[in-house]
Amino acid sequence: MPPWGCCPAAAVLGRLGIDSTGPKSRDRAARTSTTRRVPSPLAPAAVVADFLPLMPTPISRVPFHWHSFDLRAELPAGWQIAILDVAENRARARTLVPTSVTSRESSADMEIAALTVGGKTVASELPWLYGLYCNRLRELAQEISPEPLSAAVDVRYAINLNVQRGRAMRYECHVDSNPIQGLLYVTDHPPGSGGELVVSNLGDVAGVEEVDRDATRIHPVAGYLVLFDARHHTHYVAGVERDDALRVVAAMNFYTPSCPESSRPTDLNDHLFGTG
Ligand SMILES: [Fe+2]
Repeated sequence: MPPWGCCPAAAVLGRLGIDSTGPKSRDRAARTSTTRRVPSPLAPAAVVADFLPLMPTPISRVPFHWHSFDLRAELPAGWQIAILDVAENRARARTLVPTSVTSRESSADMEIAALTVGGKTVASELPWLYGLYCNRLRELAQEISPEPLSAAVDVRYAINLNVQRGRAMRYECHVDSNPIQGLLYVTDHPPGSGGELVVSNLGDVAGVEEVDRDATRIHPVAGYLVLFDARHHTHYVAGVERDDALRVVAAMNFYTPSCPESSRPTDLNDHLFGTG
């Protein structure tokens, strides 16, 4: 008779090289044999549990993922200079106090310097970019959405320019309210130069320190469109490392039937752009 006896389940475990004869029998076996038990990938939970003390402690994390499209070959000639010109000349300074329902700073008392070009200005000064947002970029975003995707009807927050100049600025910790966010990077920020998008792999957490604890970092490349759903991943934009550095990105909102434009928090426009 094989060492696992006549029990069918024991026979299966025996053929997998797993001793299922119970603690007393295992103790006897340990005293009489030098054969080492090897955990099998097919081992049942009760056997795997024997090895849990040897395994890394499971942690709860939801690694962030995103999609990226290289649009450098199809953007119109002079696209970068045109956007930078609007960013340099039309950006409005704001001091963000992180009290919005989407804010995730560790304190609501801090103030964060920001520069933005609102959607109305983008649509009037860069009509080709607004057209791309409504058509080609929306089509690309549609490829990652199982639901029909819509551009925003309200031009104020359809597509904006977020601008950072020098080391004093960063973009606040927050979660998105829209289901698909698009970012067309206008400037390059390779690793080590700052300006990266930092996204928590732990989900909806509060504060830069908590995001940094386990984060995905996306380093902007001019001409790349990045698309993602960050409604449940706190994120911020790191400051650039040089006082003469300029970071510009075109940020765009898309919506779906299950998360429509009408669900946008009512305080966001005033929070990000001020009244008017
Ligand atoms: Fe965001």
